[in-house]
Amino acid sequence: MRGLVPRQVSFCTKSQNLFFSTDVEGAIAAADIIFVSVNTPTKTYGIGAGKAANVKNLELCARTIAKVSTSDKIVVEKSTVPVKTAETLKRVLKANQRPGVSFEIVSNPEFLAEGTAVDDLRNPSRALVGGDPTPEGRMAVSTLCSVYEHWISRDRLLTTNLWSSELSKLVANAFLAQRISSINAISALCEATGADVNEVGRAVGADKRIGPYFLRASVGFGGSCFQKDILNLVYLCQTYGLHEVAEYWEKVVTMNDYQKNRFAKNIVGRMFNSVTSKRIAMLGFAFKKDTGDVRETAAAYVAKNLLEEGATVVVYDPKVTAESMFMELEYTLGMTEATFPELKKRLLLVGSHEEACKNAHAIAIMTEWDEFKTYNYEELYSNMVKPAFLFDGRNIVDHSALRKIGFEVYGIGTRGGSEEAIAAAGAASM
Ligand code: UDX
Repeated sequence: MRGLVPRQVSFCTKSQNLFFSTDVEGAIAAADIIFVSVNTPTKTYGIGAGKAANVKNLELCARTIAKVSTSDKIVVEKSTVPVKTAETLKRVLKANQRPGVSFEIVSNPEFLAEGTAVDDLRNPSRALVGGDPTPEGRMAVSTLCSVYEHWISRDRLLTTNLWSSELSKLVANAFLAQRISSINAISALCEATGADVNEVGRAVGADKRIGPYFLRASVGFGGSCFQKDILNLVYLCQTYGLHEVAEYWEKVVTMNDYQKNRFAKNIVGRMFNSVTSKRIAMLGFAFKKDTGDVRETAAAYVAKNLLEEGATVVVYDPKVTAESMFMELEYTLGMTEATFPELKKRLLLVGSHEEACKNAHAIAIMTEWDEFKTYNYEELYSNMVKPAFLFDGRNIVDHSALRKIGFEVYGIGTRGGSEEAIAAAGAASM
């Protein structure tokens, strides 16, 4: 890490301007602008446990910055933080700064997504820079903007006050997650009524005011951001006594949990109400395609449910490692060999989809990896126990072609939905 001097920043290869170092103190001392990009996980203990963000790493950074800085610095809050965290940073810096040294805090949240991070960085929908409305604050904001102006057009640089910038990051993720929970809620209704959620999503998204993005029904959203940021927002609302607002946003997470459970329950229901001693091939374990990240992945929740129902779950994912898979089950769901002695005998990760599907009673597609669309399902079918089921948690494979092969296919919010939904629809039509 080295201090960024605005004019040095560019994506060309002419001059080297990206350096890596573990000399944190030296890098801070040499820099004009310091990006604080430490993680802010959900608190697991004390006040706000399970909801509030743990900002201890940020505070530690502020202490180190104050300790080693001998010149003025712009400190950029890049981590996703609760609103008013800049206040904490300011106070810690001020209380520990050397004489004659001053700091300006600027909020500049990160909006890039996994799998498309470099594209998002090169061509962002916007860069947000928030600062204090003082002359020094305005100067800091404009200095940071001048860095971004090297590759981002001025109309995409949004400047705000500090608190709007901090809050916008949480709200952006909450809105994205809300769209997914909304379409997932509708997927349950589609299964009950015979509507098709893909068609409904397309029809609704064609309205310019709604737009087509983030309307893909799925087994549930995952990743390290959505749930964490919504719970953080919920906690913030509760802290300010805005209980109705908190409840409103919490429902986005409730709906996501419902969707994950609904998918697992549907597998059990469809397979004659029992998966005990049955082998279920799970295609994909990552929370989305093009990444090996399994944090908060819906696959872990579904795997846990199926294991508890007595199934053997055989996972194939092009990028996920067994170590990260078991770590996620332990970290997020508290499932270890101590709490579930058969864990490593009944949850296996294998090196190919053929191996995963061989002798399986069912396939469950958990991640939308492109390669899953290209498999020879006829061959997979011939090596499976009959009737062979396929549960498509991402609606990515051709259901009618698979039905022709002989599979019993169930998607999300498409024809052949959940047992309960069909029973309810039957009852309603009588
Ligand atoms: C997200 C935000 O998109 C990004 O702006 C922010 O900086 C970090 O959090 P990321 O977590 O990498 O990025 O993934 P994203 O593409 O947003 O997907 C999140 C989850 O939602 C995934 O599990 C994905 O499969 C799911 N999803 C997404 C759906 O189920 N349906 C959709 O239509 C879109």
